[in-house]
Amino acid sequence: MRSFTDRVSEIDISGIRKMFEAAGTDSINLGLGEPDFPTPGHICDAAIDAIRSGHTKYTPGAGIPELRNVLSEKFLRDNNISVSPDEVMVTSGASEALHIAMQALVEPGDDVLVPDPGFVSYSALSQIAGGRVIGVPLVDLVLDPDVVAEHITQNTKVLIVNSPSNPCGSVQSRKEIQALSELAEDYDFTILSDEVYEFFIYEGEHASPAEFTDNAVTVNAASKTYSMTGWRLGYLAARMGYIEQFHKVHQYVQACANSVAQAAALAAITGSQDCVGDMRKAFKARRDILLKGLREMGVECPTPAGAFYAFPRVGDGDRIASELADRGVITVPGSAFGEHARDHIRISYATSESNIVRALERMRDFFM
Ligand SMILES: Cc1ncc(COP(=O)(O)O)c(C=O)c1O
Repeated sequence: MRSFTDRVSEIDISGIRKMFEAAGTDSINLGLGEPDFPTPGHICDAAIDAIRSGHTKYTPGAGIPELRNVLSEKFLRDNNISVSPDEVMVTSGASEALHIAMQALVEPGDDVLVPDPGFVSYSALSQIAGGRVIGVPLVDLVLDPDVVAEHITQNTKVLIVNSPSNPCGSVQSRKEIQALSELAEDYDFTILSDEVYEFFIYEGEHASPAEFTDNAVTVNAASKTYSMTGWRLGYLAARMGYIEQFHKVHQYVQACANSVAQAAALAAITGSQDCVGDMRKAFKARRDILLKGLREMGVECPTPAGAFYAFPRVGDGDRIASELADRGVITVPGSAFGEHARDHIRISYATSESNIVRALERMRDFFM
C-alpha cells in the first residue's frame, strides 16, 4: 500500500468540480469561474505572431523584460504601487503566484488567515505548504479588520485578502484595505492580495494593500481581465526580499511562464482596454437581471459589487445546490468555500443573458 503525505491526501477535491461532475447534459451551468467571452482577437494575433517568429523557447525565469516593464507601469497607473520591473514576476496563472508565495512564506505550523467564505485554493495551498488554516469569518461578506485582529497569533505568517471576492462578489473599501495593511505592519505578517477581479467592479473602487505597506505581495493575472483563463498567465509584485526567495520556487517548479502567453499578455496590457470595459458592462447587465430575478422569488441576495458571482443566502446550501442541479441549474454550494458559507450558494453570471433568464425560470419553479 503506497503512502501519501497527509498534507496532500487530506485535501478534498474542490466542491466546484464535484458539481460539474454531477451535471446532466441539459444543465445550465452557473458554476463556472471564468468569463464566457472569447479571448480578444488582437491578443490571439499577437500570440500567433509570437509562434511564427520563433518565441517558442524558455524565457527569462521572471518573464520577458518587455512584459515586466509594462506590468511595473500598470501597477503604478492602476494600483498606486511603485515597483521596478525587477520586483515583478510573471507566473503560470495567479494560481502559481499564490503557490510560490505560500511555499516561500509558510513553515509547518505557521498560521495562514484565510477569508471564510473564500476561494477554494487558499486553504488547500496553505495545507500543501504545511500551514495551519485559520478561517476568518467575514462580516457582511468582507474582512473586518477588527475580526482579523482577533485571529492574529504569534504564528500568523500570512493573511489572504481577495477583493473583489470569489465567491462573495464583495469589494473591500479603501479604508478597510488600509486598516488591514496597518495590521500587517504592526504584527509583521504578509498580506497575500489576490486581485484577479480588479477590473470587474460595478460599485466602489479597487484598493491594493501594497499601496500602504511593503509587507504585501500583489497577485494578479490576465486570466479573468482578458478572458484568458486557459493561457495560464499571471503575475505578482513584491519587494526584492520576497522576489529573491520566490524565484527559487518558480525556477524549480515552472522555469518560466509560457512564452507565447507572455507575448499575448503584452499585447493585452499595452493594447486598447475597450474589451475589458465591454466585458464589465456585460457582466453588470447580467448581474442586474440575475439579482432582480432572485429577489422577485424572495431569495435574499446582497448586491455583489464586483467579480461575476452572486452569493445568495438560501438555507442549506448543499441541499439547495443539489436540488437545483436536479432541475438542471448548476451552482456551487457555499460549503465549498468554508465553514461560514454553508447557508449560501454561489451563482456565476459569467454566462449569456439568455442562459441566466432560462436558469431563473427553472429556479422559479423551485423557490416559489
Ligand atoms: C480569486 C481567484 N484567484 C485566483 C484564481 C486562479 O487564477 P488563474 O487562472 O490565473 O490561476 C481564481 C480562479 O478562479 C480566482 O477566482
